[in-house]
Amino acid sequence: MNGVFDPRTFGAGVPHEALRLLRDTAPVSWQSEPAVGVWPAGPGFWAVTRYDDVRHVLRTPGDFSSALGATQIRDPDPADLPFLRRMILNMDPPEQVRLRRIVTGTFTRRRLERFAGVVRERAAVLLGAAVARGRCDLPREVTDDLPLQNLADLLGVPAGDRALLLRWTNRVIGYQDPEHAQVVTDAEGRPVNPRSPAQLADMFGYAEELAERKRAEPADDLMSALVQAEVDGQRLTDAELKMFFFLLVIAGNDTVRSALPGGVLALLDNPDAYRRLRADPALLPSAIEELLRVHPPVLTFRRTATRHVVLRGQRIAPGDKVVVYHVSANHDERHFPHPFRLDLTRDPNDHVSFGQGPHLCLGAAFARLQMREFFTEFLRLPQAEPDGEPRRLVSNFINGITSLPLRW
Ligand code: HEM
Repeated sequence: MNGVFDPRTFGAGVPHEALRLLRDTAPVSWQSEPAVGVWPAGPGFWAVTRYDDVRHVLRTPGDFSSALGATQIRDPDPADLPFLRRMILNMDPPEQVRLRRIVTGTFTRRRLERFAGVVRERAAVLLGAAVARGRCDLPREVTDDLPLQNLADLLGVPAGDRALLLRWTNRVIGYQDPEHAQVVTDAEGRPVNPRSPAQLADMFGYAEELAERKRAEPADDLMSALVQAEVDGQRLTDAELKMFFFLLVIAGNDTVRSALPGGVLALLDNPDAYRRLRADPALLPSAIEELLRVHPPVLTFRRTATRHVVLRGQRIAPGDKVVVYHVSANHDERHFPHPFRLDLTRDPNDHVSFGQGPHLCLGAAFARLQMREFFTEFLRLPQAEPDGEPRRLVSNFINGITSLPLRW
């Protein structure tokens, strides 16, 4: 059974019917991995589609490792693995726990909330201009820039350097989409892995400089806090700091960039719910969770089996890739009543959009803050209507929306 690997499938829309069929008939299924674009064919992987199983895999790092083969479906170049494993995302406990204890304390509510006013004002200015024109392409004119600017503020990156951040995220995340990919070639003109550390030297150099600046002149931003962070006498090494910066730039940008138009699209598809939310903005906190459930910005994450395990009756061998589908777990009929209904008051709503277990998203509070400020402004506007077909990112990792024409 196939249909839930090819990034182009997701470019045409989340394959909900194929995922439902897998949940019902083959909840842990073998998927082949044919060549796509410049990427060669892979060995295949186990697709995990039910809520309970996705949670189990994410909460059992001893059996399903983030470090063995890192966390993307595509296998990294083996030569890059030791380097990638310095990123918290690609570590397993206990190393991951050690690092996490140092960085967690820097994401304080007070530090994050300090940016709420600026986030709101940015959203208000961009949305105000769009409404004044009567129509807009939401990602291009409003939501693509917003998370990047917010992240740059949080990190303490000067405004003049934001374009660099955008270039790096597009290089790393948009690589499956012909419109966003930057094909990187070696000296002989052969395509090389754009995520390879060798291709990211400019970004690591920048992170080093920024860290130096923050050591010399600390400010109330995340990078300053990270260079100073210390738990039980332990600090981040220079390499860990650079890797963490890299991770934040990627993890903190395209995810929110997906969540904002994804949430708007869900409201456009459900005009009654949208109207109700405009009339009663007090529903916003639970509405945000429901928008994240129906449109999880991250579609999948990969683990690698460390030993022989049996999952839902399937025998998984050591070294096998195991891919959890957050988007499928969030729509599992066994867990969510009427999962395809947008219920802005859904309670409980324990979606897995921010993951689960030891790697639970560190930026979830900042992501929710940005959604809260953006949607507060969006709901103040007259009711928007679709003004053409949306376009989606060609990716089996990020649930991206690249075009969403709206009119007022
Ligand atoms: C709606 C937006 C976001 C979504 C849906 C999201 C989703 C996720 C998910 C699913 C994971 C778990 C990865 C795994 O299981 O291997 C994760 C981890 C992480 N996220 Fe987010 N994220 C979002 C926004 C952010 C933001 C804004 C930041 C930073 C400012 C951030 C920083 C991180 C970091 C550092 C990790 C790694 C944690 C670890 O490995 O221990 N995320 N995120």
